[in-house]
Amino acid sequence: VYRDLREYLQLLEEIGELKHVRGAHWDTEIGVLANLVAARRGPALLFDEIVGYPKGYRVLTNSINNSRTMGVCLGFGPVQSDRELVLKIVENLPRWRRNLIPPKEVKSGPIFENVRIGDEVNLYEFPAPVWHEKDELNGNRVRMLGTGCAVITMDPETGWVNLGAYRNQIFDKNILGVEFRTGRHGAIHRDKYWSKNQPIPVAISLGHDPLFLIFSGMEIAPPGISDYEMIGAIKGEPVEVVKAPITGLPVPANSEIVVEGFQYPDTKRVQEGPFGEWAGVYSHGERGTFKVEAIYYRDDPIILGMPPGKPPACNEMYLLITWRSALIHEALINAGVPNVKGVWCHESGNSRLITIVSIKQSYIGHSRQAGLMTSQCGPGAYANKYVIVVDDDIDPTNMYDVLWAVATRSDPATSIDIIRRTYSSKSDPLHEAIHEYEKHLFGKDPVIGGTDKAGRWVNCPGSVAIIDACIPFELKEFFPESCEPSLETKKKVMEKWPELFS
Ligand SMILES: Cc1cc2nc3c(=O)[nH]c(=O)nc-3n(C[C@H](O)[C@H](O)[C@H](O)COP(=O)(O)O)c2cc1C
Repeated sequence: VYRDLREYLQLLEEIGELKHVRGAHWDTEIGVLANLVAARRGPALLFDEIVGYPKGYRVLTNSINNSRTMGVCLGFGPVQSDRELVLKIVENLPRWRRNLIPPKEVKSGPIFENVRIGDEVNLYEFPAPVWHEKDELNGNRVRMLGTGCAVITMDPETGWVNLGAYRNQIFDKNILGVEFRTGRHGAIHRDKYWSKNQPIPVAISLGHDPLFLIFSGMEIAPPGISDYEMIGAIKGEPVEVVKAPITGLPVPANSEIVVEGFQYPDTKRVQEGPFGEWAGVYSHGERGTFKVEAIYYRDDPIILGMPPGKPPACNEMYLLITWRSALIHEALINAGVPNVKGVWCHESGNSRLITIVSIKQSYIGHSRQAGLMTSQCGPGAYANKYVIVVDDDIDPTNMYDVLWAVATRSDPATSIDIIRRTYSSKSDPLHEAIHEYEKHLFGKDPVIGGTDKAGRWVNCPGSVAIIDACIPFELKEFFPESCEPSLETKKKVMEKWPELFS
């Protein structure tokens, strides 16, 4: 498809989906520009001549933020609509999963064009952005080097190599943050090392083509399957990896920047952020850190930036909404829910909080079944609060249509079911506020929505509303017909009076 990030950028340039921006400041300007353009589903932005940095030290954002660029990234070529893109991913996933291609180890690669070891390591050498206005603690600006990152770890027992997007704030010239949250695959690896009181070897790729980010940032490959193998399946050839000299971890030979080191069981935990998060508010919390033993980078390196933000002005939103929609669709098929016509994880909830599923109703109970499964399936359950089920004449990506169905086809007293004590998230702003309020009242972390005796985070329980906005199955043949003109009629009159629609 393309060999690396640089070849990917050439493909975007050819279809007019790459813009070059010069002279932006790493403090806030890059972040605000990137997220404003993301809100318009705009092109990729390559920032160069960043204030205070040499020409060539670049930051790329918006790399897969519309159906055209995401289509190119997945080897489909430019795709024209969000709905078509999601259906294409659903169609191709089984083939990709069947045709895994293991990575190929090579002796060297462009990643070793520049090497900094030990005392030579200085993370401030790279234009790590402050992504949001108020990313600041005690007067110190929060510089987040890794957002579109791939944290590479290995299972010490099986050799399974995982990539995970776990972000990286710079805390000192050679200290980087990385937190393996419970449930993440990296945490499975970490716990195995730490249970033997050994440090976990960590390598982080900070710039790469965005296919690496898709697989590090989404729960696509199950435990035991390497994200490298799935990337190989999409590219149709093995990912070339080199052994990182200190940890021995396999890192992409064509990566732009790689750091490596070890995280010890007594890792220093520090206050991260505040950082503008995916739910659209500032959040903070403690994170682990590690000492960077070495940095490797290509000449004129490119950091891959994918900052969160308040949707739709959020760089990671497009990846999250399209891929989560496809993964939920796949999960529904695998769970035996028939006639699923589309899934859309709506922008407002940044893919997690609000999900719409469209079905061709086949029996009484079908719509509730689809709603319950959507709310509780693997890729859909975390932090989900609302599921709306619609008929197949409704485009789930079109919120006017969806809310029209809710308004005209549902009956509040009988169409809404609520499931209680569901899987929730600390990043849900309501839960964060409840947690802070209880701390304010009682002077310590609450037991639920706080930390347990071992110091691990315990989420507040959540709840989910399933809104059945389908025409009740038995009323279908009696339900009044939509008075929207047919596509054919619309087309005919629009062609006759084009000046009214230009
Ligand atoms: C751009 C981006 C940034 C992310 N940042 C984090 C993060 O800082 N910490 C985290 O635990 N998850 C983060 N996630 C979500 C995880 O990367 C995601 O759950 C992924 O599946 C983790 O990989 P794993 O399933 O191999 O553990 C991020 C996702 C994306 C797309």
